[in-house]
Amino acid sequence: MTDNKTDYLAAQIDDLKAQGLFNTIRTIDSPMDGHIVVDGRPALNFCANNYLGLANHPRLREAAKRAIDQYGIGPGAVRTIAGTMSLHVELEKRLAAFKGAEAVITLQSGFTANLATIPALVGKGDVIFSDALNHASIIDGCRLSGATIVSYTHNDVNDLRTKISEVQAGGYVTRSGETLGDNPNRRYLIVSDGVFSMDGDIAPLPELYTVAQEHDILLMMDDAHGEGVLGRGGRGIVDHFHLHGKVDIEVGTMSKAFGVVGGIVAGRRVIIDWLRQRARPFLFSSAMTVPDVAACLEAVDMLESSEELVQRLWSNAEFMKHELKTLGFDIGSSTTPIIPLMLGEAPLAQQFSRKLFENGVFAMAIGYPTVAKGKARIRVMNTAAHSQNDLEQALTAFEAVGKELGVIR
Ligand SMILES: Cc1ncc(COP(=O)(O)O)c(C=O)c1O
Repeated sequence: MTDNKTDYLAAQIDDLKAQGLFNTIRTIDSPMDGHIVVDGRPALNFCANNYLGLANHPRLREAAKRAIDQYGIGPGAVRTIAGTMSLHVELEKRLAAFKGAEAVITLQSGFTANLATIPALVGKGDVIFSDALNHASIIDGCRLSGATIVSYTHNDVNDLRTKISEVQAGGYVTRSGETLGDNPNRRYLIVSDGVFSMDGDIAPLPELYTVAQEHDILLMMDDAHGEGVLGRGGRGIVDHFHLHGKVDIEVGTMSKAFGVVGGIVAGRRVIIDWLRQRARPFLFSSAMTVPDVAACLEAVDMLESSEELVQRLWSNAEFMKHELKTLGFDIGSSTTPIIPLMLGEAPLAQQFSRKLFENGVFAMAIGYPTVAKGKARIRVMNTAAHSQNDLEQALTAFEAVGKELGVIR
């Protein structure tokens, strides 16, 4: 092509490369598991959100195959137009029972679950109180709603309280300079990640619930990284804090611990009923595919019948945290199986990741804009699919690379 229309994109890509922020996506030539083949080389996998090792579990594989034989592959069209398959209905009922929620609606992904939910609940003239470190899909859902977004300091319930009081008193000036007048009809929503995926810390849900109750505000949690991880047998953050029936909306995903793909919105029946009428990704985009749904149903079966995988995940993560800390790494303050190995500048994190790979460990560097500038890291994702031997082998690589690059002594 001879025109200059895309020069600005090429310049931005060059800029990313110069800053060490250009993301080179590796190719996986094997199933997603504890051991994978990356760019043709075998490696231990510490990148995936496949917390329970279900992405390649024989039971899920078989369930997907059986369902394909019975129902085929695709849903054909959106559910409101072509009808809904009994499999989707069954999954929603099973998930509601699993999570102890009144009802569940499934979407194509966790990302679309947030885009579906937030704009269906609040709109222009309303106010959303959003944790400063919320996931991009929450941020996009908030933006799409047209409501005013008031960001509160990460996990700081006192700041949230202050912001709510200021907004409700009238005259609050937003960051963009907009003054919020007094409006008795204004609706409010508090929204937060449950587990913050880059640091592995957990939202103070009991306190958020108290604040939401004090002010009669809808409360929404995104439990993407808590699904299958937190609570009894992986029932999620609401179960973890024993708050069944108290959190209005719990968004989740089946792309991580469930090992498949698909979004979940669990909560009050009236909200789920409303989403079936008005959530745009539900009305205007086709549903999860048959093998996805069948595999997710099998995952629910497995989680309901045994806590073994969840326990193995946590004990593997505790071992890795302890050992990485003992080696002298800064591993932040995660209280979940996510371990952020803090390195600071993006080029160092990228170099660390490359060297790990040379040592047989696949663990990706995460830099801006996923995390703040100067907070680049290797995010070590532990899973139940790792054996003790895998963990020890990985630690040998972390130690060697850490010493070579002067991160530890
Ligand atoms: C908090 C949070 N919400 C939503 C998502 C999106 O989930 P999915 O991959 O199912 O779209 C993620 C994934 O990274 C997440 O961390």
